[in-house]
Amino acid sequence: MNFEIPEGLTDLLQDFTVEVLRKRPTDLLQFAAQYFDNLLEKRANENAKNLLLNNFNNQMEEKQPSDDDVYSDEDEMGEMPDLPKSRFAGGGRRHSVAAEKYNPEEDTSEEPAIVHPKTDQERQYLIRTVAHIFIFRSLEKKQVDKVIDAMFCREVEPDDVIIEQGDDGDNFYVIESGKYDIFVNKQKVGEYDQKGSFGELALMYNMPRAATIIATTQGKLWALDRLTFKRIVLKSAFEKRKMYEALLDNMPMFKSLNSYERMNVADALFSKSFTNGETIIKQGEQAQCMYFVEHGSVRIVREQDGQSKEIKVCHKGDYFGELALLTKKPRAASAFALGDDMKCAILDVDAFERLLGPCVKIMQKNIPDYEEQLRKLFGEKFNVADIEK
Ligand code: CMP
Ligand code: CMP
Repeated sequence: MNFEIPEGLTDLLQDFTVEVLRKRPTDLLQFAAQYFDNLLEKRANENAKNLLLNNFNNQMEEKQPSDDDVYSDEDEMGEMPDLPKSRFAGGGRRHSVAAEKYNPEEDTSEEPAIVHPKTDQERQYLIRTVAHIFIFRSLEKKQVDKVIDAMFCREVEPDDVIIEQGDDGDNFYVIESGKYDIFVNKQKVGEYDQKGSFGELALMYNMPRAATIIATTQGKLWALDRLTFKRIVLKSAFEKRKMYEALLDNMPMFKSLNSYERMNVADALFSKSFTNGETIIKQGEQAQCMYFVEHGSVRIVREQDGQSKEIKVCHKGDYFGELALLTKKPRAASAFALGDDMKCAILDVDAFERLLGPCVKIMQKNIPDYEEQLRKLFGEKFNVADIEK
């Protein structure tokens, strides 16, 4: 019998084999289904994607890096790694340009939901873990269930390359165990140790992978395929980033974070509205979070020696409630909403500790001013150490 090999078959199978050898999947069939699914999707999106990348690159060329776009306050970087100034790792506000160009609502695929069976134990573990992943936080319970259904496990060995910079994005990963190094342009910029998640950038912004991730120990990852990520997680995560990036970009304190670190802060924020006169913070209470004014104003008032005095009014772009998180003391003053259209973005204490390391020194610089203000209002003897009295 005389078989004719269809054009493209050899290349297709060769590429697939190379991917299998590189990624060493545990479930070959699942990997193959996903690989070819991705190829189809890639072909369909090719034109749209090229257009996006061209737009992005044109805007990158138009706007060459300036001092203002990279770290403006390098002395304040604290203990965070000195990230190279690539598009994502340290490219100032570049990501917003790409973010505005990508419209996740364009993805209207109607494929059936992907389900990977799991034991009750695995499901319970994932429910607990996913609750701590910022980009999943705004999902409804039904959506979380779908995300968990679609996740599949990947065991890794030391030196496994999980993601390679420049590749197209396939999965988003949640770490169950193991250590992973992060490289940007072959330079190590950080690591994950037994927790965290990665791989969202390429899927969110339709861009090549921005970093390489390599396992340095044995470990276990939970992967979420690109299609499910796009269908369920992308829209809310994307909109949230876009909304808060605008706020953070206008706050001088965040210039000490690189753009990737700022995105993580944007993921961690949530908003709350207050009515006129409503108490946002009560003097003397333990602190659980800090606040960024999104709309309207806030009165800061301190009571001392039987007197109640207004210390300050905060406006859009100001922050407050950081002092108690820095000093680990009770709230030094109360905060009240001024006007009915008052809205704050809130960062909880865990995210504060995890993400704002490089901003701590900047926030600490306020303390002498606070003390000076309170001395003027209440007398000579005030200092931050007296706050709990
Ligand atoms: P993605 O670009 O899809 O793949 C590589 C991932 O590394 C990226 O998404 C982020 O989730 C993660 N990452 C961690 N640190 C950085 C960094 N400094 N710059 C870019 N990506 C990073
Ligand atoms: P925190 O003590 O957590 O809660 C009250 C907040 O009021 C405090 O953080 C500061 O953010 C803010 N604040 C503004 N001015 C002062 C000041 N002079 N002294 C203390 N807190 C102040």
